[in-house]
Order: sequence, then structure tokens, then C-alpha cells
Amino acid sequence: MCGIVGYVGPRDASPILLDGLRRLEYRGYDSAGIAILTPGGKIEIRKSEGKLKKLIDALDGRAPVGNLGLGHTRWATHGAPNDTNAHPHADCTGRIVVVHNGIIENYAELRESLRARGHKFVTETDTEVLAHLIEDEMRGAKSEGALALVGAVQRTLKQVRGTYGIGVFDQADPELLIGARHFSPLVIGMGSGENFIASDIPALLPHTKRVVLIEDGEIAALTRDSIHLYTLDGEPVERDPLQVTWDAQSAEKGGYPHFYLKEINEQPAALANALRGRIDERGVTIAELDALDLARVNRVLLLACGSSYHAALVGKRVFEEWTRLPAEAVIASEFRYACPVIDEHTLAILITQSGETADTIASMRLAKSAGAQTLALTNTIGSSITRGVTATVNLQVGPEIGVVASKTFSAQVVLLELIALDWARRRETLPAARIAELALQFAQLPDVVEGALGTDQQMRRVAEKIWQRKSIFFFGRGYGYPTALEGALKLKEVSYLHAEGYPAGELKHGPIAMLDPDIPVIAIATQSATLDKVVSNIQEVRARNAPVIALATEGDARIAEHADEVVYLPHVSEELAPVVATVPLQLLAYHVAIKRGTDVDQPRNLAKSVTVE
Ligand code: G6P
Repeated sequence: MCGIVGYVGPRDASPILLDGLRRLEYRGYDSAGIAILTPGGKIEIRKSEGKLKKLIDALDGRAPVGNLGLGHTRWATHGAPNDTNAHPHADCTGRIVVVHNGIIENYAELRESLRARGHKFVTETDTEVLAHLIEDEMRGAKSEGALALVGAVQRTLKQVRGTYGIGVFDQADPELLIGARHFSPLVIGMGSGENFIASDIPALLPHTKRVVLIEDGEIAALTRDSIHLYTLDGEPVERDPLQVTWDAQSAEKGGYPHFYLKEINEQPAALANALRGRIDERGVTIAELDALDLARVNRVLLLACGSSYHAALVGKRVFEEWTRLPAEAVIASEFRYACPVIDEHTLAILITQSGETADTIASMRLAKSAGAQTLALTNTIGSSITRGVTATVNLQVGPEIGVVASKTFSAQVVLLELIALDWARRRETLPAARIAELALQFAQLPDVVEGALGTDQQMRRVAEKIWQRKSIFFFGRGYGYPTALEGALKLKEVSYLHAEGYPAGELKHGPIAMLDPDIPVIAIATQSATLDKVVSNIQEVRARNAPVIALATEGDARIAEHADEVVYLPHVSEELAPVVATVPLQLLAYHVAIKRGTDVDQPRNLAKSVTVE
């Protein structure tokens, strides 16, 4: 995780870096720091444990002034989140400055050998070895100027095992900013007379929409007017810039108190964007599938973590139902160390909004090495997952800044269903009339989700009743089960209130022992083939005096007899219901979090993209 931002150009670097860090803070918020090279040739480092705001308060409007700089926001791996371990880090001479995202796996042995050569370490981080190694390599440099630093960084990175996105500058070269990556994200922002590096595109949006991707094992050397890419062996690399379509406003709160609430509320527009070009009166077309050899596939694997895994669970059901292909959803961190049966007839779908989740990327590599075709479903163009897969489908929902997934979850569900539907059309496993009927429902989904947002005030009232309870259970069957899991995860993540998502039929095999009047149960009881069974499960719960809040389909008067409170939602086919029913659960988590006073956009201990194992 961790966020990096770097600037070289004519402007004052500090405000650009601090604003960039604000936009990247979802990547980690254990500490923040900046390093600036002043016009007098001095390196000024300011850093502080805690959130970026603490650093900004400490700077008190007196940030160092200069035209070259690096900033970092940290999610601690090696070393406690304190001032000393906060990045940027420097070498013994204080001349080389480094920021780093990732893990240097052989840092302990490198540190011992550097110590033996007289280097003094001041932090507990793995990153500090990079600064000292570059210092050593600069001493032995044969070339001068920019090439000396590029060469020293190349030789340093060749000694390193692990993952990194790094930013480096040298006091002796006020015109040069270096970036490099290996399995941790880093992109170049191409300005006019100025250039940038950043871990993620939102940090660049106020300045430029032209980005140059850095591939794994490459180094970028940036001056105000030039961008040069090299391999670790010093071979020059040519790469054209990409134009990003996101606008700067999409990375702002737009009047909402929190990004999470904004992103929940923008789901109708986000889904309309996700559907654009994919649904019309002829039905559904996911053009990206043309890059796959679908005829070869006899099995689908859906691999993901967190909320993306919950979307995968919906995908599993819908693939089996609509395409009649066996499908399995597996948590990526389990999959990568299992002994999975995969061959060239397998399609592995990697679901990751960030495109950077380490376990999902490792799963992709494992599936690929066994001959599977691979399809990435992501929200981040140029992200690591998109490199090396057979095809990529983009969510097209704009940046999601709240650490906790909301609009990207609903878009993942929609896109997985559209992929399944298009495939079912190609395989002729669904009648054309059913495909047309579903396509129409997808086209109407943004309006239906708008309707579901109308539950906001009711969910606020529910939150007022439950926010002090010790635990909440969510249950559902079929498509309601992943919905229950997602509802419970939202609550845990943003409000820290203990919650469990369960298949409704499993409750009696254990969790029912826990139920009492102090543990509310949220039942996903929208229209489905198994609704009667869910109603029976609700009755079992009520017999144990646990209060029941039911999500039900408008017009279902029967549910009111069984539940203490009913939240009515617009009707959709049960396959689409997870998108609609998740909306009130997202809102519930939000209102409970507000009552409990937690940090909604940056919950403790979490990071938006988990680039370490
Ligand atoms: C983190 C985030 C979750 C997200 C998960 C997977 O844990 O906090 O919101 O669902 O990572 O992220 P991905 O980018 O792979 O979808």
C-alpha cells in the first residue's frame, strides 16, 4: 500500500505534493512526509506519524519551498508507525532521498552488509537500505549527472528482492526525479514543462490527464521537459502516453461529508457509465470477450479478495445459471497457495477494483502458468493486473476514494453478470427472450438503484436503534447470501461493529446459539426462488427473540408479519437483487459509523489497495 507522489518543474513542489498525498491517503495513513530540494541546494524533510493532517498542522503554512520533491503516505509494514520510520528516508550523507511502497524482502541481509561497510541506520524500515545502497553505488559511478543516478538506482534494484514502487532524488541533481517499479504501482504524469510520478492516477488529475505507464523492472528519469524510461539493464524503452478520461472533480467529495457517502449516492450514474456501450436494444455485448477463445473454456474460476470476492460469489451463481459452465469463486490468498486443478480449458476471472491486490495478481500468474486464459475486471487502467492477462474489462465508474468499496462492488456485480449474459448469448444457453428481458432490466438498473437510495432516512433510523448492539447477523440465501456477506463486511469496516454474514440455512448449525434480544438479524428477504425458506429462517430467529430487520421487495405484505421492521426495495430479477439490496446495507453501515464516530473514509488498519501479502 503506501502512496507516493513526486514533482519536478517550475512550481513550488510542497503544495502539489501535499495535495497529491491528500488524494492518495486512502492507500495508507500511518504517517506522512515530504522531502524538498530548496533553491539553495538543501534537502528539507518534514514528516510525522499519523494522518496527513497532522503533518500539515505541524507545517503550519511553512512548508519548505523548492521545485523538486517527493511525498509519501505510509501503511506500515516494517517498523512501527512513528516519526522516525515515516518516509522519506535518506542515506548517511543526507544527499539521497527515497520513498518506497512495497517490501524489500532481503532487507535484513542487505542492512547487515551495509552496516559492515560502515553505513549508519536510523530507522527500522526495509526502505532505508535503498538509500544506503544508492549512496554506495553513486560512489562507484563511472558516469556523471543524470546517468550516474540512473545507473546507481539500476544497480541498487538489481540487488533487491521483493516489491517496490520508489521515488528518488539526489541533492547534487536539482533537475532530476527518478521513479521505478516492480509489482507496486507507479505512473508518470506528463505535464507541460513539469512532470510527476504518483502511485495512482487521482493524485495527477488536477495537473494532467496524460499518463505514461512504468512497467515492472523499469526506471523512469524525469526532468521538467523530458521523460526517459530504461530497463534495469539500461536499455532505453519507448512508450506512448495514455489519455485518462476521469476528471479532477470525480476525485473530490462534491458537497458530501465523506467520499464513501458520495460514492454510495453516485451509484446510479456510475452504473449508467458501466453499462454504456454494453447494453442496447439488441441486447448485451461485452466486446472485450472477443479477445478470449471462449469456445475452449469448460470451467470458470473467479478469484478476488474482500468485497470483490463477494462480487465473485454472485458471479459464480450467475455463470452457472446462465452459461451452464461450472464456476467457482475462490479467495485469492487461499487460491495462490492451494494446488488448484487448472488447465488450458479454464478461464480465470480476476476481480480487483484497484488492480493492485498482491494476492489477486499472484493468483493470475498461477492460473496463467497452468495454461488458463485470464480476464481482469478492474477499475484502474494500466494497473498491474492488466499486464499479462488475456483481456481486461474496465468497470468505467471513475475513481473510488473511500477506502471501503461501494460503487465498485455494484459495478463488479453488474459487469460479471453482463459477461455471463453475453457468453450465454454466444453459447445459446438462455432463450433470446430471457436475454432481452434481462438486458432491459440492466438498462433500468440505474433508476432502480436510485429508488433504493430512497431508503436512506429509514436506514438512519435503523442505525439509531442498533448502533450500540454487541453484534449484528446478516443472512440470506442464493443471491442473498453474498449480499449478506457484503452488508456485514461494510458494517465491520466502517463502524467496527461486529457483524457476521451467513447463509440463512446455516444459522441453525451454530450461530443461532448466539442469538438473543440484543443481537439484531438483518434478513435478505427480497423476491427469490427460496424466499419461503428465508421466511422460515426468519421465524426461527424470532422464536429466539432476536429482532429482525428484513429487506423485502415492494408489495410483499406478508414479510411485515414476520419482521420487526421491513425495508422495501424496488423489484428486480433475483440475479440483479444483490446490486439493489446492497444499497441500504451500505447506508446502514454509514449511519452506524457516524453514530459511533469512526473515520468513515479511512477506517483504522485498512488500506484501499493491499499490495502486500
Ligand atoms: C481492501 C479494501 C476492500 C477491497 C479489497 C480488495 O481490503 O479495503 O474494500 O474489497 O481490498 O481490493 P481490490 O482492489 O482487489 O478489489
